[in-house]
Amino acid sequence: MDMNELTAKLSAIKDEVIADIKDLASSRGVYEYKKGIMDPKTGKIGTLMREMGKIPNELKAEYGKAVNEIKNWASERFDELDAKLKEAEMRAKYDSEKIDVTLPAKKQAKGNLHPNTQVRNQIVDIFGSMGFEIYEGTEIETDHYNFTALNTPADHPARDMQDTFYLSPEFLLRTQTSAGQIHVMENKKPPIKIISPGKVFRSDDDATHSPMFTQMEGLVVDKGITLCDLNGMLDEFVTKIFGAGTRTRLRPSYFPFTEPSVEVDVSCFECGGKGCRLCKGTGWIEVLGAGVVNKKVLEGCGIDSDVYSGFAFGIGIERIAMLKYGINNIKLLFESDLRVLSQIDD
Ligand code: DAH
Repeated sequence: MDMNELTAKLSAIKDEVIADIKDLASSRGVYEYKKGIMDPKTGKIGTLMREMGKIPNELKAEYGKAVNEIKNWASERFDELDAKLKEAEMRAKYDSEKIDVTLPAKKQAKGNLHPNTQVRNQIVDIFGSMGFEIYEGTEIETDHYNFTALNTPADHPARDMQDTFYLSPEFLLRTQTSAGQIHVMENKKPPIKIISPGKVFRSDDDATHSPMFTQMEGLVVDKGITLCDLNGMLDEFVTKIFGAGTRTRLRPSYFPFTEPSVEVDVSCFECGGKGCRLCKGTGWIEVLGAGVVNKKVLEGCGIDSDVYSGFAFGIGIERIAMLKYGINNIKLLFESDLRVLSQIDD
């Protein structure tokens, strides 16, 4: 091929490249086109480079220069176009991924703990801060731990206070977390300072009673423990759970496992004691049962009642939740109705 022929050929290739690249619409397309035209076997520019070897020596310099020139020229065109297309591709990507930060966010429903769990945690925190340990008993108990060891033998009239689900003559669903007191005292020597939260079961069903509910037992045994210690601890407890200024009142009561036994009232936290619907006009609300641990119970667990004494108490968790959150039917605490539950986030 002489130089004139080559010049004409190169000029045609240029025109062709200029026409072809007009149609390229993507960076990938540019890459493929470049690969094609530079291919040493099939490409229009690639083959010219490869044929350099066959060119007579005297023409080689001129031929080489011309071919190199078109190769560089084409490469520059491809790079230019590639940069332009890449930028457009990026812009299109950004545009398609654009987030409108001015749109109002979708409201996320926030979950909260069940009111029973909230109250339970609050009570555990309060007693935890006073140094009480947690003992978790079992829901299935023996008649012995639930009743007999708590000074309530088989024919004791106090058994009528709690309508019991028996699984067999020996086993039952515990009616009170008090059963845990015996396990603790059998396994640990004083000083003892525990709380025991858990489910209890009774065949009982109305607006304020449910066949399954939650109690929190408390037990303190040490040298020189008296009813005054119970009273002081209760004062601390009620101000923390119901608010500052809440007072306690102890009324004589009866439980087989405590002597003396008391029913504990708190001054009404709704009206401050003046009398309202919540306290039924009395200014006081009953919240728990308690007492000094009966010597018979201590002795039955191998604790010398001449050396040690103790107090115990039992709190109904649902009762506290109902009082605190103004719930008038205990069923609302077991029905999982979000319209009720979502209102209580303490
Ligand atoms: N176990 C009693 C009940 O379920 C509550 C109770 C009363 C527990 C007095 C006690 C206590 O520890 O001393 O009705």
